[in-house]
Amino acid sequence: MKPKILVTRAIFPETIERLSQHCEIDYNDRDAALPADQLAARLSDKVGAITLLSDRIDATALAGASGLKAVCNVAVGYNNFDLAAITQAGVMATNTPGVLNDTTADTAWALLLATARRIVSADKWVRAGQWQGWKFHDDWFGNDVHHATLGILGMGRIGQAVARRAAGFDMRVIYHNRSPLPADIEQACKATRVDKEALLRESDFLVLLLPYSPAAHHTIGAAELAQMKPSAHLINIARGGIVDDSALIEALRQKRIAGAGLDVFENEPALDPRYFALDNVVLTPHIGSSTRATRLAMAMLAADNLIAALAGKRPPNLLNPDVLPA
Ligand code: GLV
Repeated sequence: MKPKILVTRAIFPETIERLSQHCEIDYNDRDAALPADQLAARLSDKVGAITLLSDRIDATALAGASGLKAVCNVAVGYNNFDLAAITQAGVMATNTPGVLNDTTADTAWALLLATARRIVSADKWVRAGQWQGWKFHDDWFGNDVHHATLGILGMGRIGQAVARRAAGFDMRVIYHNRSPLPADIEQACKATRVDKEALLRESDFLVLLLPYSPAAHHTIGAAELAQMKPSAHLINIARGGIVDDSALIEALRQKRIAGAGLDVFENEPALDPRYFALDNVVLTPHIGSSTRATRLAMAMLAADNLIAALAGKRPPNLLNPDVLPA
């Protein structure tokens, strides 16, 4: 008898095929999150689950799932997990770090360049038939990226991949983390650690890459935006809630900062409609890791984590080692 698992929403046939060699699968093959009551009901007779960031896994979801051994998120972020409740229930939790670093760093750069050079507004303007002919003093002056200062708040693996790309633009790179990175990593990224105030004050492009936690809520609000240069651009590729969207909208409206590139929002997908009226912001629908190759690698890594956990091994990306016997 194969162990029974739940796959909470549509992933890839290749991943289902791999999992089915080891498990009996209850598959929600629609790309839509299960309502909380159905999620809890379908978890109740399972030993494992592949979850997506739209699944809230907390004490309520786990209440009836006494046989559950592992929940394996197809995402590097796991703020959809109540890790304390999962650990309390004796369930292993895993995520998918590493495989999405380069793709997410590419997306951060796409947003950075798009907002610096106003690419999306210019595209809309051309499509609207507004272009009457080339002008030297056109209305499209943007901000130079090369030789500017790139600031990274939350210099983990993805932040490092963003920093390494800056070398091609001859940028100065500064970052802020609670503790400094090892010297060899700082050297490879050509990055210097500064305090948060200096990061806000000196960055021409500030990229946010903090994991979300209640302590990180509104890390960037009105007070922080007020410290940034009027010519600065903010890029959020981390999680909604790290930025106070209302404060950012106000700063963009008043041109207290020059622009923003945002992939994540408070209250996704119901983002604040005031964003739609602003032409100094580029908005994308949480697509940081969205290439087929990377989403497949993430799904396969989640499957590897689950297969290892169910085989009694330590999964490669275990988030709560406390659940393992000492
Ligand atoms: C996507 O947002 C992820 O955390 O992988």
